[in-house]
Amino acid sequence: MTTRIGVVSVSDRASSGVYEDKGAPAIRQFLTGCITSPIEFVDCLIPDELDTISATLIDLIDVQHCSLVVTTGGTGPSPRDVTPEATEAVCSKMLPGFGEAMRAVSIGLIPTAILSRQTAGIRGSALIITLPGKPTAIAECLGAVIAAVPDCLSVIGAPSIDLIPAIGTYRPH
Ligand code: MTE
Repeated sequence: MTTRIGVVSVSDRASSGVYEDKGAPAIRQFLTGCITSPIEFVDCLIPDELDTISATLIDLIDVQHCSLVVTTGGTGPSPRDVTPEATEAVCSKMLPGFGEAMRAVSIGLIPTAILSRQTAGIRGSALIITLPGKPTAIAECLGAVIAAVPDCLSVIGAPSIDLIPAIGTYRPH
């Protein structure tokens, strides 16, 4: 079964054409490199607007049947950074361990990693993971949590994914 994956770049500047979006390609590249089961991507490029972000997440999961959604951008402390709030608004359950694990790895790489409120949550049978906006942060952060994603998808009732042997698909259940 093909797993549909939503890839959401949240950026005022990229979505208005001020610069090229490098976030979505970095997410697709990372996931393509480590998931061996069939996947297809649904891409979105949107501004840092809370209602737009929430509506996009709802559409990707409830209408487009994505069982994994990865966002990039809008996790920081500035007034326009609202991705965690928009995510929490559409989730039934948050998984703070994702943010903790990603920050734990990132803090050794960049002191400003503590500024990111990156997190994850569950909506229905889908997992949403929110990443910082820097393209380099994507592999750094997804690498810290990807091993837990297949089991998480199984537990919430989504079709699961298989990972390359180097990462391993850890399934305690
Ligand atoms: N985490 C990693 N791994 N690598 C990074 O470059 N950048 C940090 C932080 N986390 C960064 C990172 C910075 S500078 C900020 S401001 C916050 O993520 C929030 O970024 P965002 O608002 O673009 O989501």
